[in-house]
Amino acid sequence: MADKKTSGVTEGSTHVQGGSFQIAEAYKMIRTNLLFTLANTDKRTVVFSSAEPSAGKSTLCANLAIVMAQMGIRVLLIDADMRKPMQHRYFRQSKSMGLSKILGGINTADECIIRQVLPNLDLLPSGVVPPNPSELLASKRMKDLLRDLDGQYDYVFIDTPPLSVVADALMLLPESAGAVLVARQRQTTYDELEEAIEEVEQISNNLLGVVLMDVRVNKTGYSQYEKFRYYRSYNYEYVNRKNRRT
Ligand SMILES: Nc1ncnc2c1ncn2[C@@H]1O[C@H](COP(=O)(O)OP(=O)(O)OP(=O)(O)O)[C@@H](O)[C@H]1O
Ligand SMILES: [Mg+2]
Repeated sequence: MADKKTSGVTEGSTHVQGGSFQIAEAYKMIRTNLLFTLANTDKRTVVFSSAEPSAGKSTLCANLAIVMAQMGIRVLLIDADMRKPMQHRYFRQSKSMGLSKILGGINTADECIIRQVLPNLDLLPSGVVPPNPSELLASKRMKDLLRDLDGQYDYVFIDTPPLSVVADALMLLPESAGAVLVARQRQTTYDELEEAIEEVEQISNNLLGVVLMDVRVNKTGYSQYEKFRYYRSYNYEYVNRKNRRT
């Protein structure tokens, strides 16, 4: 979004909840594109990741979940970034009962999912930080959990760590409809984005789209609506310009 000072997510508030009409409209545009993209998929789980840290994954994931839920769509938001969990903060919840505890066999999903953090929106926080997050996410228990949850919600959104740090997001792809990659203008390089796209396509061949965050445009015209852009995977030609920033 245009101005970091005014549009960053703060604890207990998301862009959609605390932001402007234009920002909410921008998320709704991405929602529409995602709904079209997912219209013919059996699975309803979407993995959100990025090439590098701080691209805006957690922000996008939370806000998209909210605008989906506002439409009456039942959404579960899972915080699978156990190293740097954020979703519990946005919704002012505790993270202690969460994904890591389910995967560790300590608690059940029913005990950990926080129902109706907003109407139609359930949250599964990260849980306490385990010593082996990647191992847990790659486990059979995780696969079984995702299969089970995929059938219980209209959409399941998973927030994950950046691909340059760990490959956790890739491990979740086989159980999902695909990945949305988040890039940040003036931060993500074309090379980084291209590499992340290749990694996703090698595993699942199902890149649902790329969302470009924090796009700064001048104040004339319909600039607010241009702050997010959503690209389908077949529109990636422009990414091939090497060594340029998005
Ligand atoms: N579109 C945006 N415009 C301005 N600031 C943004 C935007 N999206 C996210 N931010 C800010 O950028 C920072 C990083 O965002 P966020 O935590 O969503 O990124 P992330 O990709 O999840 O990071 P990490 O790799 O650490 O998980 C936060 O301070 C957030 O408020
Ligand atoms: Mg994050």
